[in-house]
Amino acid sequence: MFGLDIKIAEGFGEEEQAVIFCGNCMDLLASIPDNSIQLVVTSPPYNIGKEYEKRLDIETYVEQQREVVKECVRVLTNIGSICWQVGNYVTNGSIIPLDTILFPVFQEQNLVMRNRIAWHFEHGFHCSRRFSGRYETINWFTKKTKNYVFNLDPVRVPQKYPAKKYFKGPKAGQYSCNPLGKNPGDIWDVPNVKSNHVEKTQHPCQYPVELIERLVLSMTNESDWVLDPFLGTGTSVIAAIKNGRRGVGAETEDKYVNIARDRVQRAINGTLETRPMNKPKYDPMAKKNKLAMAPWNSKEKEPDQLILAREM
Ligand SMILES: C[S@@+](CC[C@H](N)C(=O)[O-])C[C@H]1O[C@@H](n2cnc3c(N)ncnc32)[C@H](O)[C@@H]1O
Repeated sequence: MFGLDIKIAEGFGEEEQAVIFCGNCMDLLASIPDNSIQLVVTSPPYNIGKEYEKRLDIETYVEQQREVVKECVRVLTNIGSICWQVGNYVTNGSIIPLDTILFPVFQEQNLVMRNRIAWHFEHGFHCSRRFSGRYETINWFTKKTKNYVFNLDPVRVPQKYPAKKYFKGPKAGQYSCNPLGKNPGDIWDVPNVKSNHVEKTQHPCQYPVELIERLVLSMTNESDWVLDPFLGTGTSVIAAIKNGRRGVGAETEDKYVNIARDRVQRAINGTLETRPMNKPKYDPMAKKNKLAMAPWNSKEKEPDQLILAREM
């Protein structure tokens, strides 16, 4: 793990450990040498008219993404990974999953898809004319090599039946599962950052640190570089620094750059609170949270709305 003397640099340098570049990612990328980044992980603008983006026609959007992806591939090591985390572009009630239209962009770059991870979460916009969207995807690509870095052990999750044993064959009687845990699979149930999440800032679309830590731990080794071209509040750099890697990212909006600097500094100091990886999800029923009890099933005093409804 790095010491507490990490300085947050404003531009890329191979001697740095944490870099937050205020400006267009294409300018940051131009300053990074070929073959130097082990993991590119990002959630780009979705072109849905958030406060930090101008809605573009979809062809122009894909073209802009193509330029960024091309540069990311240039700076990527031969054993590195690119993880592009996206959801849906929505127009006139019609959804276009961004991974479907961006997939050819990665193929053009001769990349190989290793996983399309479904990130499931429970909070978000409530739709009335379609089912509410409760997952997005993390699209993981590498170059055409068998030697890409993939460390499974640091990200294993507890086995469902750790006490299970082989019941026949030469290993009969021995425990059948890996005591380090099992492969987490490609459906990740990780709470998204909404108002009561410990990491929430004023950014509308933060991803949680724990989501990125799993990628950092499995796809990089200590002191490797992790790059996020669309850094937002600094989450990817935080996930890198927390785990003894180096982090670099670009962000165009001053207010998010300031939040990112503050959060990364607190991560360096060890004072940033993040939701720990693998912490079980909050279960309101188990915690007997009163808001989780339907009042209309209760034998206690009927709520006023129900009495009213019956009288109408
Ligand atoms: C979906 S958000 C990323 C949020 C981030 N994952 C986090 O956890 O905070 C995309 C970010 O990209 C920034 N952005 C948009 N175009 C950019 C560009 N060309 N270069 C750098 N940042 C850009 C936006 O201001 C926005 O904060």
